[in-house]
Amino acid sequence: MKLKDQVAIVTGAGRNIGEDTSKLFASEGATVAVVDLDRARGEKVAADIVAAGGKAKAFVCDVGKEDDIKRCVDEVKAAFGRVDILVNNAAISDNKNMFEVTTEEWNRVLAITLTSPFLFSKYAAKAMIDGGHGGKIVNVSSTSGYYGRDRAIAYTAAKGGVVNLTKSLAIQLAPHKIRVNAVVPNKIGSPVGKDEFDPTRPVLNLVGRPGVPMDLARAALFLVSDDSEFIVGAALFIDGGCTTLMPGNA
Ligand SMILES: NC(=O)c1ccc[n+]([C@@H]2O[C@H](COP(=O)([O-])OP(=O)(O)OC[C@H]3O[C@@H](n4cnc5c(N)ncnc54)[C@H](O)[C@@H]3O)[C@@H](O)[C@H]2O)c1
Repeated sequence: MKLKDQVAIVTGAGRNIGEDTSKLFASEGATVAVVDLDRARGEKVAADIVAAGGKAKAFVCDVGKEDDIKRCVDEVKAAFGRVDILVNNAAISDNKNMFEVTTEEWNRVLAITLTSPFLFSKYAAKAMIDGGHGGKIVNVSSTSGYYGRDRAIAYTAAKGGVVNLTKSLAIQLAPHKIRVNAVVPNKIGSPVGKDEFDPTRPVLNLVGRPGVPMDLARAALFLVSDDSEFIVGAALFIDGGCTTLMPGNA
């Protein structure tokens, strides 16, 4: 049991990557706060964990709103007594180019995808520091944070921000024994914002299969467990090696 007696918050945990991360952490002994805007999805994941013998509770929260984030961290502390682990996984994409996206859409994508990891880290880190026991934070970025795209202008900007946010958080929280790292997925399970896996999505990686949510969950587990105790401020690519390939240079 790698996470015995630890309390983990996973945002956007109602589906896909957040769901499998929550389930894997619970199977390793963590008590999981399953945080999602969608009550039914979050409650289903929490119920699945409990049915499998684990410990979990669903918390409804719009991570795009600071008041909700603050309340959510307070509720988790009240329910479980402490916070040891935070996975900032929730995100939305605009899927639009610079001329199509409205300022309102841009602001909403930035609030949920970039500001939320900052604010959730701030309130969760305060709880970790108050508890006097340190902690671990994993931010979910994306290969879209490293490369430009012909759409998703707000999402790519936000995910690039998540990478450097991770480095500054890592530096500012290291004195408090809180380790901060990022994971960088590419094409894992269903696309962001969608329920269904699309088997027609082309697979261009070195492994030869699409990524599945458990690929990301296992990497997140590594980064929140003591197995990675010397890894801080890193961005771990979970992409089947696709970013190793340079188009036109094979
Ligand atoms: N799926 C991929 O191929 C892929 C690729 C690169 C990066 N990522 C990143 O991985 C993470 C998870 O992606 P996913 O595909 O599992 O996402 P998803 O869209 O399948 O699930 C996201 C979950 O977040 C919840 N959510 C949305 N807005 C919210 C809000 N305001 N407050 C609280 N919860 C909210 C949704 O209800 C949903 O349950 C994201 O950060 C995403 O950017 C995913």
